[in-house]
Amino acid sequence: MSISATPPATRRADYTPPAFLIDTVDLEFDLTPERTVVRNTMRVRRNPTVVRASNLELAGEQLEFIRAAVDGHPNVNVRVHERGLTVYDVPDCFELTVTGTCHPAANTTLMGLYVSGGNFFTQCEAQGFRRITWFLDRPDVMSVYTVTLRAEKSAYPVLLSNGNLLDQGDLPEGRHYAKWEDPFKKPSYLFALVAGKLVAREARIKTGSGKEKLLQVWVEPQDLDKTGHAMDSLIRAIRWDEVCFGLELDLDRFMIVAVSDFNMGAMENKGLNIFNTKCVLANPETATDTDFANIESIVGHEYFHNWTGNRVTCRDWFQLSLKEGLTVFRDQAFSAAVAGGNESEAARATKRIEDVCILRQMQFGEDAGPMAHPVRPERYVEINNFYTATVYRKGAEVVRMYQTLVGEGGFRKGMDLYFQRHDGQAVTCDDFRLAMADANGRDFSQFERWYSQAGTPRVRVTTHYDDATRLYGVTLAQEYGDASPAARATQREPLLIPFSIGLVGRDGADVPLRLEGETEARGTTRVLELAQAEQCFTFVDIPEKPLPSLLRNFSAPVIVEYDYGNDELAFLLAHDSDPFNRWEAGQRLATRELLALAEQVRQARSLEMSDTLINAFRSVLTDESLSPSFRALSLTLPTEIYLAERMAVSDPAAVHAARRYVRQRLGQALREAWLATYERHLTPGVYEATAEAAGRRALKCSALAYLSELDDPADAVRLATRQYDMANNMTDRIGALSALLNAAAGTGDDVANRPLDDFYTRFEHDPLVIDKWFALQATQRGHAQCPVIDVVRALTHHRAFTLKNPNRARALISSFCGANPSQFHATDGSGYAFWVEQVLALDAINPQVAARLARTLELWRRFTPVLSAQMRTALEQVELNARSLDVREIVQKALV
Ligand code: TRP
Ligand code: ZN
Repeated sequence: MSISATPPATRRADYTPPAFLIDTVDLEFDLTPERTVVRNTMRVRRNPTVVRASNLELAGEQLEFIRAAVDGHPNVNVRVHERGLTVYDVPDCFELTVTGTCHPAANTTLMGLYVSGGNFFTQCEAQGFRRITWFLDRPDVMSVYTVTLRAEKSAYPVLLSNGNLLDQGDLPEGRHYAKWEDPFKKPSYLFALVAGKLVAREARIKTGSGKEKLLQVWVEPQDLDKTGHAMDSLIRAIRWDEVCFGLELDLDRFMIVAVSDFNMGAMENKGLNIFNTKCVLANPETATDTDFANIESIVGHEYFHNWTGNRVTCRDWFQLSLKEGLTVFRDQAFSAAVAGGNESEAARATKRIEDVCILRQMQFGEDAGPMAHPVRPERYVEINNFYTATVYRKGAEVVRMYQTLVGEGGFRKGMDLYFQRHDGQAVTCDDFRLAMADANGRDFSQFERWYSQAGTPRVRVTTHYDDATRLYGVTLAQEYGDASPAARATQREPLLIPFSIGLVGRDGADVPLRLEGETEARGTTRVLELAQAEQCFTFVDIPEKPLPSLLRNFSAPVIVEYDYGNDELAFLLAHDSDPFNRWEAGQRLATRELLALAEQVRQARSLEMSDTLINAFRSVLTDESLSPSFRALSLTLPTEIYLAERMAVSDPAAVHAARRYVRQRLGQALREAWLATYERHLTPGVYEATAEAAGRRALKCSALAYLSELDDPADAVRLATRQYDMANNMTDRIGALSALLNAAAGTGDDVANRPLDDFYTRFEHDPLVIDKWFALQATQRGHAQCPVIDVVRALTHHRAFTLKNPNRARALISSFCGANPSQFHATDGSGYAFWVEQVLALDAINPQVAARLARTLELWRRFTPVLSAQMRTALEQVELNARSLDVREIVQKALV
């Protein structure tokens, strides 16, 4: 295939069931880094429900064939080819043995079997198993696996695979073996093995039904002191799934393993979850409060997959959101519940706000570009490119909407029915939807459109109050306002949108809500079901004109358009009983101000802002009744990326100038309050990992950050230097360092140099902390005399830098290209030239990581002409030279 040929796409409509089934798999590995021999014995039979095929087609990639046998006979008619292996004229039921080799040490893609830090690991989702051995590598083929691992004992003392350990022992010549069996049928993408020099933290627990379980977190010896939090999180996750959904751990042993070379966050292999070190290792000196929270949710996520993903799996990869959307929903609910503690409502709201921020930045952005796709995509070239914000995050919102529509009890009934019907099966998003519908006696056929339609829906709201009749009419109209051709390509009809609403009276209290036709008021928050293009809902007996609180708790993944006045937003920020909407009101206010200022920058006018935002921020900052974490979030301005996407034409420089101006003004105008807040939220003494203490640290660091924006940042420098030197935890340390970098960017002096060097030498031996050191510099504000691109280029030559480790590559390269918009989009094109080089360099090493980086230019059409022309050229250069399907799919879509 010439590299410019259009790559072949896989289509959802083309699904057919497998012609053969594989009931059992017996794998034997002789592990050596250069050449591992894999002997694979399968019990195969024709799928009775499918038209008879004479030949068995197995997938295989990058393998060397040694031999094959059918029912023990070596003379079989097989052909080995590029894409796998064909066995001709097979009987209805037979035993097939194939032996081959793969090359773990040379495998830089980190898919299949590979070596990291001298140890062996696997990653099979989505299609990595075919890089280990020939197989029906598709999720609707489920088998029982037995695995024998053999390796040199001194180099690989620990040998792990899925399920239960059956046997282990020594072999001649310093080798040893271990034999594992996983009693549950599983698809090949859930297979895993690990071999090497690892140590484990262990815990023994009893599940709800009284069974003993062994839990292990395996890491390299130097990391054992960073495994406590993951173990605690795992135990909490196990308990939560029992209590919330009645789902128990089904194996006697559950293992987590940490690896530093990993393409994504973590992987839910049955009984043997494999984690990026970044998503599992933590102690207060090396991990921030945000890291602690992420680890808890990812440990939960992978554990929850044991039921939602493993016991019930996907029929095909178009159904990916069946497991990912549902499991993200579950990990979000878990984190909200655990953070709850005593200040539960506020903590739940904080978690919800953070989740919505990520959704709006990443998923709404995806919908606006060439990668826009429905939660259940229709076609893909490279499935790895579809592990997206849409499948994960919008998918989770879709699951949340069922719960909003049928209530928590109804949702549980739906889950119970789903498992009752589908345990042990490979199913579709429709099967889940039908279980939810049937368990609740509802018709959810219209709801299917959430799975098939791409793009971000908009709900336009108009209201009318009539003094005489005391009626309040709310008209909701839905449409897709997007301009992305990729989103418009899917058919689009009205959705069923659960639209949560409250009405706030002049005293700031909620008005009891009674809809037309009801005999009495029912509560103060109601979920309206918007099912048509436009619908009017009338509330009766409303004593005075209220202020609507719209889409409370973000009840649907839509954009709400309503013409609030600035003082109305300030009022909601002060009074809305829904914490999410309280925060939202402040964000709307800030967004409006920031976008107006960005426009002033574009027109080279001098910048002026009203006092509304300053006063609103002052009230939040000084309102001691609000939790510190909620205040910290409310005082955070929308990101530059979010703002740029809301402009008619994205102009990162204008957004940056506007945001910097507002931060400076807020810093200056509220200086005394920031200083007082800082002092009042110090967390002296022993580090505490509670949500409460984390909230105090967040608010304190946010005060420091505002103070570092001042023309004279002496206060910030003094406080941050002290905070850095006294820090007993990473949150304080990195908060101080970033304030110092920011102050240095404003004044051009070198206040950050000493702590930056100190940070490096202090943590030189801890790769995850050194990643932070790279990322911090890649995302710094920079100043005229020293553009950040120069710093980043210099850092690519640092002795600790390598593209081969995805965490390190992302820390420097992706942070700069994806999280420092004003510097990356420099008008001289220096950022884009760098991007081309790095995408191509990564393309040759690790296509999955390269493709992610390639996506940072996908919104190129939305930028100012000067930038978009250069972005196009950069994309064309990559299109000409990239070799992997992964990267080619991304850039070709972008250029269409
Ligand atoms: N299924 C994994 C998760 O959610 C993610 C995953 C998919 C992955 N493909 C991967 C992880 C490849 C690492 C490498 O939770
Ligand atoms: Zn997942």
